[in-house]
Amino acid sequence: MFSTTFDLTTEQEDLRRMVRDFAEREVKPKAAEIDETAEFPIDTFKKMGELGLLGIPFPEEYGGAGADYLSYILAVEEIARVCGGTGLSYAAHVSLGTSPIYYHGTEKQKEQYLPPLTKGEFLGSFGLSEPNAGSDAGGTKTTAIDNGDHFILNGAKQWITNPAYAKTIILTAKTDTSQKGSRGISAFVLDTPTKGYSFGKKEDKLGMRGSDTRPLFFDSVVLPKENVLGELHKGFPVFMQTLDAGRISIGALALGIAQGAYEEAAKYAKTRKQFGQPIASFQGIAGMLADMATQIEAARHLVYHAARLKMAGRDFTKEGAMAKLFASEISSKVCYDAIQIHGGYGYTREYPVERMWRDAKLCEIGEGTSEIQRIVISRQILGRL
Ligand code: CAA
Repeated sequence: MFSTTFDLTTEQEDLRRMVRDFAEREVKPKAAEIDETAEFPIDTFKKMGELGLLGIPFPEEYGGAGADYLSYILAVEEIARVCGGTGLSYAAHVSLGTSPIYYHGTEKQKEQYLPPLTKGEFLGSFGLSEPNAGSDAGGTKTTAIDNGDHFILNGAKQWITNPAYAKTIILTAKTDTSQKGSRGISAFVLDTPTKGYSFGKKEDKLGMRGSDTRPLFFDSVVLPKENVLGELHKGFPVFMQTLDAGRISIGALALGIAQGAYEEAAKYAKTRKQFGQPIASFQGIAGMLADMATQIEAARHLVYHAARLKMAGRDFTKEGAMAKLFASEISSKVCYDAIQIHGGYGYTREYPVERMWRDAKLCEIGEGTSEIQRIVISRQILGRL
């Protein structure tokens, strides 16, 4: 089914098989329902926690599975192949809600926060975007003002994944208002629930509807000093580094959705008969499927390559952005063509491809729009002009 050129290890292949089996058994049967009802599949996440999927790339000493980053990427791809919404919440938990603590936390923070997150006792969440600070993430208006032995947090966050199921939120707030732009921002871990913290109603989204997306509000929340993540006033780079890696997982999310849509389209084209023969036998349809397979294979190369650079400890900012940009744009195109191949049936909820198309669109927006990826890539190849 997959090209043999990806050189996965036996462990990575085994993990992929295990996650695929789980996804087919537990995730796929609920995908249409959670899209329809917009209900978060909390039971699925409990089972993912029991299987160790929520802690794949973290060491066993912190409750993780001790596997490598590519294994996690394969898991995101496999979950997304059957359900984008579950895949998005999964990627947000690992890449955004848990990784910053592992990479930037003190030993005490790691010991305290990582085991419940990696075992799935609750989910992790990540608050960077605000109503007026989206692509311009450095324009954070939320403040955390020094008040002796703690900070007082005020402000709001927007488009946040998983908050209703999270007990920790990694967030940014301006701690030094005398510094301009993205300088003077700090990263924090906020323990929830806590006085002054609340979240708003679940967003009614086009796609990824099972995934929990809400605004957050902070009204004079007391943030202990020990909850600073990384260096005080130097939190913006913590978030940028987190997004560098998160973008590889959004690439995997888009790739998985595209793979699922392609498989549906190929299956349909081989069984649907018109003019007395399967429509796959017509060059127009066969050519579309060939293009879809080619785009998916190219995206897979970019996503796995970025993951391998990260595993090797090499720079991957450009490659992660390229992987996300390319995979998310081809994912929308592949899903769009999958609908076309299904004809009128593809335009109905009877077949999953319209859901996949709606889900895929988010990958061109979340964790940095395609326009932001182009800025990141162009700065890497051209420098700051
Ligand atoms: N790694 C480390 N540091 C980095 C970095 C990186 N990849 N990129 C930038 N930095 C550092 C810079 O070195 C600079 O540091 P100094 O102040 O010490 O010089 C600082 O960060 C500011 O960098 P820039 O001048 O490049 O910042 P900018 O204001 O021009 O913005 C940007 C750059 C790429 C546009 C950035 O704002 C960005 O990525 N925007 C998109 C944000 C985004 O992806 N949001 C989605 C969040 S996901 C979410 O919130 C929802 C959810 O739950 C899924």
